Amino acid sequence: MLDFNFCSPTYFAFGKKTEEKVGELTKKFGGTKVLIHYGQGSVERSGLLNNVRKSLQQSEIEFVELGGVKPNPRASLVYEGIELCRKENVDFILGIGGGSAIDSAKAIAVGVPYDGDFWDLYEQRPEIDQVIPVGTIITLAATGSEASNSSVITQEKGWKKYGFSSELIRPVFSIMNPELTYSLPPYQTACGIVDMLSHILERYFSNTEEVDLTDRMSEAVMKSIIENAFTVMNNPQDYGARANLMWAGTLAHNNILGVGKEQDWSSHQLEHELSALYDVAHGAGLAVVLPAYMKFTMPKHVMRYVQLANRVWNLDINFDNPQETASKGIAAFETFFQMIGMPTTFAELGAKEEDIPQLTAKVRIKGGGDILGFFEPLTRDDISSIYRLCL
Ligand code: NZQ
Ligand code: ZN
Repeated sequence: MLDFNFCSPTYFAFGKKTEEKVGELTKKFGGTKVLIHYGQGSVERSGLLNNVRKSLQQSEIEFVELGGVKPNPRASLVYEGIELCRKENVDFILGIGGGSAIDSAKAIAVGVPYDGDFWDLYEQRPEIDQVIPVGTIITLAATGSEASNSSVITQEKGWKKYGFSSELIRPVFSIMNPELTYSLPPYQTACGIVDMLSHILERYFSNTEEVDLTDRMSEAVMKSIIENAFTVMNNPQDYGARANLMWAGTLAHNNILGVGKEQDWSSHQLEHELSALYDVAHGAGLAVVLPAYMKFTMPKHVMRYVQLANRVWNLDINFDNPQETASKGIAAFETFFQMIGMPTTFAELGAKEEDIPQLTAKVRIKGGGDILGFFEPLTRDDISSIYRLCL
């Protein structure tokens, strides 16, 4: 196990009607003038936005509003939010909705005190020392942005989808009412399920040894996600299943399942290019990329995949042919994604074979190098081969 620092500073208010506490919590965390930032209407339709307004008014907290965040949130709205916050002297940002609204809220939060173009931060990823605090109310169990240190924004100029990370952008509080996810279309629920599984797998695909505790915790969370996924697909209003999925999404990405090990985020990097080029949902893109990534990397990491197959899918180990067990485990993930209505091929996603050279060239590699990831270091040719396995 590697040395690590772990700090998950977010205060969680979890359960029914917890959104009614938003005024009280905002006050507790020092907000006096709030920007309520949200997406394209789901929070209006569900009544959440009105409840938030009421709660802030009851706590005598002033607020301004900016809606319109699109899935794969755009830089243009972040610029608008930064300007609005500066004009209105906003000192607290409340992101309400899915990961996109929350990521956009985080981008505004770093952009307001930054003396320059906020996009520089996403391009160059410098350390920052100032941020406006962010609180969240999540309505989609998926990204873990409610506790994560990252934000992913799409810059329309050049259609680049880049992430920025800083410990300072972990939300100070997150309100999590599983009932707020009842209204999700099945497709979005499924996208969220794939995303949270992928956040665990990207950490699980590691060569670091002696991480048995983290492995077993990861396997338990994955099993729980899969079981509860079937329940919510059959009954979207099953409170218990929605609650378990919601908390799983947070644990999948607050890094408790990633500490002490080298992590591999290659599938996410490959997916971000799909979202940037075709504007597809992040989880749907991952459902296509992940099985391909697993097939490509399995031959050199057979026993890792055998462990995954055995412990998550309860598959018996074929000691004479461990590769067979590993492949069955990968097939189980692929079948699961299909069963919950996710695409698993480029064609189903609307991606095109002829775009593979462009996608491959655009994949962002940390430090501008030529090798992506740690688990199985990938060259550009390897990346291209993985995209080809998605066909
Ligand atoms: O815009 P509205 O009207 O709110 O509708 C949204 C949107 O159309 C809808 N929705 C959300 N909650 C709903 C609902 N519809 C009905 N009922 C509800 N309760 O769902 C659609 C998708 O929302 P979005 O926020 O885009 O989805 P998600 O939460 O999956 O977020 C995806 C974004 O987060 C990024 C992704 O790349 C993508 O841009 N990620 C952020 C991460 C982070 N900050 O840590 C990590 C992830 O790996 C990911 O990259
Ligand atoms: Zn993700």
